[in-house]
Amino acid sequence: MWLGVDVGTGGTRALLVDGRGGVRAASTAPHEDMRMERPLWAEQRPENWWDACVEAIRGVLAQAGVPGRQVKGIGLSGQMHGLVILDSASRVIRPSLIWCDQRSQAQVDAVNAKIGRENILKFTANPVLTGFTLPKLLWVRDNEPRNFERVRKMLLPKDYVRFKLTGEFATEVSDASGTAVFDVVNRRWSFEMMDGLGLDRGILPKCYESSEVTGHVTPQVADITGLQAGTPVVGGGGDQASSAVGNGIVEAGTVSCTLGTSGVVFAHMEKVAYDGAGRVHTFCHAVRDKWYVMGVTQGAGLSLQWFRNQLAPGTEYDALTAEAAQSPPGAQGLFWLPYLMGERTPHLDATARGGWIGLTARHTRADLIRAVIEGVCYSQRDCLDIIEALGVAATSVRASGGGARSAFWRQLLAGVLNKRVVTLETQEGSAYGAALLALVGTGEYASVVEVCRAAIRETESVSPSAADAAFYEKAHRVYRALYPALKPVYGQIAGL
Ligand code: XUL
Repeated sequence: MWLGVDVGTGGTRALLVDGRGGVRAASTAPHEDMRMERPLWAEQRPENWWDACVEAIRGVLAQAGVPGRQVKGIGLSGQMHGLVILDSASRVIRPSLIWCDQRSQAQVDAVNAKIGRENILKFTANPVLTGFTLPKLLWVRDNEPRNFERVRKMLLPKDYVRFKLTGEFATEVSDASGTAVFDVVNRRWSFEMMDGLGLDRGILPKCYESSEVTGHVTPQVADITGLQAGTPVVGGGGDQASSAVGNGIVEAGTVSCTLGTSGVVFAHMEKVAYDGAGRVHTFCHAVRDKWYVMGVTQGAGLSLQWFRNQLAPGTEYDALTAEAAQSPPGAQGLFWLPYLMGERTPHLDATARGGWIGLTARHTRADLIRAVIEGVCYSQRDCLDIIEALGVAATSVRASGGGARSAFWRQLLAGVLNKRVVTLETQEGSAYGAALLALVGTGEYASVVEVCRAAIRETESVSPSAADAAFYEKAHRVYRALYPALKPVYGQIAGL
């Protein structure tokens, strides 16, 4: 048996798989709510992640009815970009500033001024964003100097859990990529960034490839979890890379589209390439010597959720999509801009705002809903277009997440992306990918590609009709003209 543990935002999930990648049991322990003391702040307590991890591991072993000694390896996955800082006694200094914490704009500006945007792209393959780990550390330096003085180690969320499991300070390339101090092209820490900012290289954990063994379960942890002391713990991956392993996005030409609260288009890359404008993230993949590129729609499932909560309370999503199906492609000339939380790809604009454009008196609620779903798909097409322009050839797209459970969404997505849209038998995401990485790290399979070929099966697929593809090609061009036309107004709205 192999264990995948995903330290998410809402909770920690533990998943047991057998030697063929079949799921045997799963257990999730919820986290405390994140603390949002001020508008752009988001914090969680690392100690709470660890407690949830212990609970989830005990839960999954109990549920499967297997003794811990049958677990031959563990893989970790987790929310990316969070800052965990430890003192000389390896105690947590302050709560973690997590991935969605946006307080560090002043620090991002300072890094850009000191290192230079061009150099940052050269050193790390990405721009520095407020969500990334480095500006969070600098925020602590600038605002809590006494905490900063005590920093001896800087870890990512799942790597704090690794430290508690094994006593080792370690991370792996896919998560390290989201820190802004990682040389993504050469798969090593960027001493150029650390030295350039006067930061101590010694605070960085040792960095491994994702399927390498990074340490072993300690006897103390064995006592509280039921696992066996000495069980190997492999690197694992940031949640997006792990989830991609779980979806088999590990070979040339494979692309996934995850329609959750946000929407992520994720593509495997054989050779590293990055967007000069930084509109998509280029990170190391959990596959040895491979990379990935991803684009993010901030308000994907969120758009329909907002619609339901505000305009159709209590209605089931299936009823909403059935209603949308009564409206023709293009929703009678109605467009939805999904910028309910600003937008990452392609605009990198926190001031962008959502809304319908093109309303007339003859539009119905069915048109409104259809337009919302089409707008989300257009935004995912924006992501895919940038990714394809980097030389990634997508033959089909594997869809997952809540939106992908609807056949209507999948058909519409196929039309807008003009790709075959495929669904998979196992939809377990990040924890599953982490467990597959453990199967590789303990030698059951020779490579990530091999385990994915053995364990992952496609179930259904939909292809776009020629008529839909041609129509949406034209409609997407109209959608693309809307943001630039509205941009000056967004600035004015923000300034009100
Ligand atoms: C990736 C990202 C999220 C977080 C939280 O860039 O911000 O996937 O890892 O899930």
